[in-house]
Amino acid sequence: MSSSSFSLTLIFLFSLFFLSINAQDLIHDTCKTSSQQDPNVKLAFCTTSLQAAPASHCADLKGLGMMSIRLTRYNITDTRCYIKQLLKNNTKKLDPYVKACLDDCFELYSDAISGIKQAMKSYSSKRYFDANVQISSVMDATTTCEDGFKQRKGVVSPLTKRNDATFQLSAIVLSIMNILQSSSK
Ligand SMILES: *[C@@H]1O[C@H](CO)[C@@H](O)[C@H](O)[C@H]1NC(C)=O
Ligand SMILES: *[C@@H]1O[C@H](CO)[C@@H](O)[C@H](O)[C@H]1NC(C)=O
Repeated sequence: MSSSSFSLTLIFLFSLFFLSINAQDLIHDTCKTSSQQDPNVKLAFCTTSLQAAPASHCADLKGLGMMSIRLTRYNITDTRCYIKQLLKNNTKKLDPYVKACLDDCFELYSDAISGIKQAMKSYSSKRYFDANVQISSVMDATTTCEDGFKQRKGVVSPLTKRNDATFQLSAIVLSIMNILQSSSK
């Protein structure tokens, strides 16, 4: 290897190194801001979720926002399916109160699926105000679902973790849109 191609290789390796540092920084910085803006967002949950998303290391902030919406959508779809199974598998065993809550949650999550699809469209066309309204209603759906179980003593929600994950992912989307909007002004 000649010394010039050696130094080119070095420069190349260094740029790779710094590029990946920058991508890590973007996820970390975004998550830090998000967890500061909304105390419900846990820094570790945010970074783990975004880092696991395919190609998130190459994404800019707008891209990270879309990825978060997609993660939220997967979460909602998965939870809706899970509720369906809970209802189907336990027809006889379910406490009537729990069953009523699960029925409500199923409705809420069904509406949330169309909400998140609309949010995706709004976000792509930079209609952040609309996307904000749509994502906020997804967050409301998760808290309404969870609150149903809380209203009766001795009832444990089987959906706490899932409601919480969807809530956090949605909150991450909201803060990314916040940053996008304030940086474009
Ligand atoms: C929800 O999304 C988070 C982050 O991507 C993931 O860790 C979790 O497993 C998902 N939960 C469901 C039920 O899809
Ligand atoms: C429901 O039953 C199916 C088939 O037995 C099982 O694979 C699935 O894990 C069950 N789901 C729940 C949420 O209990």
